[in-house]
Amino acid sequence: MGRAEVAVAEKLVKEYESYEITGFVPMTGFGLYALFTVLGEKLGKYERRVVRALDGVSFTVREGEVVGVLGPNGSGKTTLLKILAGLTMPTRGRAEVAGLDVVKDHERLPRVITYIPGLAAISLFARPEMTVEWNLRRFADLAGLPREAVREALELVELVEDAHRRVYELSTGKLARLAIAFGLVKRSPLYLMDEPFTGVSPEVKVKLLELVKWLASEQGSSVLYATHILSEAEQVCSRVIVLHQGRVIADDTPRNLAKELELMESVDVEVRLAEEAEKLARDLAERADRALKVEVEGDVLKLTVAVRSSRDFVQYAVERVHAGGSKLLYVRVREPTLEDVYLALLSKHKAAEEKVVVAPPGVCYIFTGGVGGG
Ligand SMILES: Nc1ncnc2c1ncn2[C@@H]1O[C@H](COP(=O)(O)OP(=O)(O)OP(=O)(O)O)[C@@H](O)[C@H]1O
Ligand SMILES: [Mg+2]
Repeated sequence: MGRAEVAVAEKLVKEYESYEITGFVPMTGFGLYALFTVLGEKLGKYERRVVRALDGVSFTVREGEVVGVLGPNGSGKTTLLKILAGLTMPTRGRAEVAGLDVVKDHERLPRVITYIPGLAAISLFARPEMTVEWNLRRFADLAGLPREAVREALELVELVEDAHRRVYELSTGKLARLAIAFGLVKRSPLYLMDEPFTGVSPEVKVKLLELVKWLASEQGSSVLYATHILSEAEQVCSRVIVLHQGRVIADDTPRNLAKELELMESVDVEVRLAEEAEKLARDLAERADRALKVEVEGDVLKLTVAVRSSRDFVQYAVERVHAGGSKLLYVRVREPTLEDVYLALLSKHKAAEEKVVVAPPGVCYIFTGGVGGG
């Protein structure tokens, strides 16, 4: 039996409505703004546009998984997370989080999910002039959760020593720990993290990414982790969903995706030559799928090739080099990275028609709101 499903989305569609100014419009106070919007559309001064941010998104997240949500700007990552957090309603389709329907039960969603939309948004959870512990306790009291959970959470995220510091004094790394502590207090089965560690220095980020992994492996929580930064996703995610223009164009482990896209491994070989460089290079290149680089420096041959199976190639290379009396100095195999996968996927889908309406430069949106309750 597979692990329990924590989040399920089925054919989610989200359309946003916006008005673009197409003619001269006098500046108005807020009171007249709605009137002008309606009149303006009739007089041809505004044009109503519908942006389809999500276009039939389906996927499942299971217990203990960290799933990356990748995609270029405007591909729908934030919209997707907001729907699962109950912060905006889908236009069509359905989604469930921990058995709760994101539309019907949206008021109960905050009890189960922990939404971390970047650290600037910590003010959504905490009163900055009060202490770390005060904030967590108030949170536990309001949610009817046991206070013991606060101490435990502080220990788990290593904030015990900062418990009596005011939130505004905390470094960004510690703010991130606090955001996660809120989730631990309520034993959140699902964390929705939207580019959560922007602005955190690399050495602190490494620790925070470990904390995210630990949430899944030790606490059994699931994490949806939206990011542009592929190296981050590579470090934490067991699976990735790639969004492109509101559609899921891939949903798998990075390794499987690389295989499916027939991305090759690259192998670097360095040999101290005891035979003609050209002959050895030709033999090795023939065994590879593609030769990427051949260099000779003095009596050293440096070769980089792309191969489908590094195992077969390396075995051949070792035997062939020795057979010619040369000496193998160095071998390095590089598997396709998430970045390779991502770039290959996007270029495959580049041809797809631009569906999302993007405002040309200089166009000013004066009103945005969600169709269907957003
Ligand atoms: N409130 C809104 N009103 C109108 N359009 C919106 C609104 N929010 C998002 N959009 C549009 O919906 C599409 C998806 O946006 P979304 O913010 O979900 O993408 P994203 O993948 O999170 O992008 P980024 O990587 O820049 O954070 C974009 O075309 C965006 O302009
Ligand atoms: Mg976003």
